[in-house]
Amino acid sequence: MFARLKKRLFATHPLTIRQRIWRRIKYILRIKQLSKLLFAPHPLLDIRMRYVHKHEIGSYEYRLGLGAVDRPHYGYCVYHAAELAKKLGIPRISVVEFGVAGGNGLVNLEYHAQEIEKCLSVGIDIYGFDTGEGLPKPQDFRDLPYHWKQGFFRMDVPLLERQLKRSNLVFGDIRETSVNFFERFDPAPIGAIMHDFDYYSSTLSALQMLEGDENYFLPRVFNYFDDIAGSEIEMYCDYTGERLAINEFNGQHEDIKIADAYYLLARKVVQPWYHQIRICHFFKHSQYNNFICKENEQRPLQHVT
Ligand SMILES: C[S@@+](CC[C@H](N)C(=O)[O-])C[C@H]1O[C@@H](n2cnc3c(N)ncnc32)[C@H](O)[C@@H]1O
Repeated sequence: MFARLKKRLFATHPLTIRQRIWRRIKYILRIKQLSKLLFAPHPLLDIRMRYVHKHEIGSYEYRLGLGAVDRPHYGYCVYHAAELAKKLGIPRISVVEFGVAGGNGLVNLEYHAQEIEKCLSVGIDIYGFDTGEGLPKPQDFRDLPYHWKQGFFRMDVPLLERQLKRSNLVFGDIRETSVNFFERFDPAPIGAIMHDFDYYSSTLSALQMLEGDENYFLPRVFNYFDDIAGSEIEMYCDYTGERLAINEFNGQHEDIKIADAYYLLARKVVQPWYHQIRICHFFKHSQYNNFICKENEQRPLQHVT
C-alpha cells in the first residue's frame, strides 16, 4: 500500500507540473474526506443523507425527515409550525427571520414554505427584519465586540428584492420596527422564528415582541438560534449574546418561557443544530391546552392469564 502511495505521489509521467500538483491536491483531499466520513459517528447515515440531498431522492417530507435539505433547521421549524397550526385549525401562519444580511436565509425559507404549503395545505407568510446596513454598533461586551463589528453583513437591497418571490422585508433597527410591526402588517399567527441578529441587545428587542397579542402567535412557537453554539472564537455563554437574551427574557416572564427541545436531544442520532432549537411556550394562550394528540389512546394489558 505504501509503495503504491509513494508511486502515486512521486511518479514521473508526461503530465505538466500544474496537472501533477492538481492531482496531488485532489488525492489528499479525497483521503481527508474519506477519513472524515469514516470517523464520523454515523458514517452510513451521513452517506445516505448526502446522497439523498445531492440527488433529491424521494419526497420533500422524506428528505426533510432525514435532514437532507438545505438548512434543515429552517425547514424543521417551519414544517412543525405548519403542522401544529393544522392541528389547531389555523389556516395560515407567519414565519420570521431576525437578521437577513445578504438574504440567503430568506431565499431558503421561501423554498421550504413553498414545499410545506403543498404538503400540509397551510398558508405561510414570511417576514425578514434587518437594518439593511449590516450590524449596528455593538453596545457593550454583551454584544460580543471581540467577534462582531459594525457594518458586517450589509445587504444588496435591489439584488435581494429581485431574488425574493414572496417575503416581506422589514427595514430598520429592531428597536423601532418591533414597536409597530403588528399594527402595520396584522400578520397571521407566528409559528416559527429564525434568530440571527448575533447581538444580545438586538435579540432581546426581538424577543420582547413575544409580549404581543396572543392572536399573533401559535401557542407554541419553534425558534432556531443561530448564535448559541459556535466555536472557541465566539465562546457563546449564558452571560453574553443570544443566550443571555433568552435567559433574561425567561427571567422576566412568568407565563411565556423559551425552553429546550428535549425531545430532539433524546433522539438516537443528534444533529448539531438540535442544540439550537428552542420552543417558546405561551402558557396562558387560549389555545395552549387544546388537545392535539391521537383521539383515543389506550394501552390494554397484553398478557392476561
Ligand atoms: C449574521 S447576519 C444574518 C444572516 C442571515 N440570517 C443568513 O442566514 O444569511 C445578522 C444580521 O442582523 C442584522 N441586525 C443585527 N442587529 C440588528 C438590529 N438591531 N436591527 C436590525 N437588524 C439587525 C444585521 O444587519 C445583519 O444583517
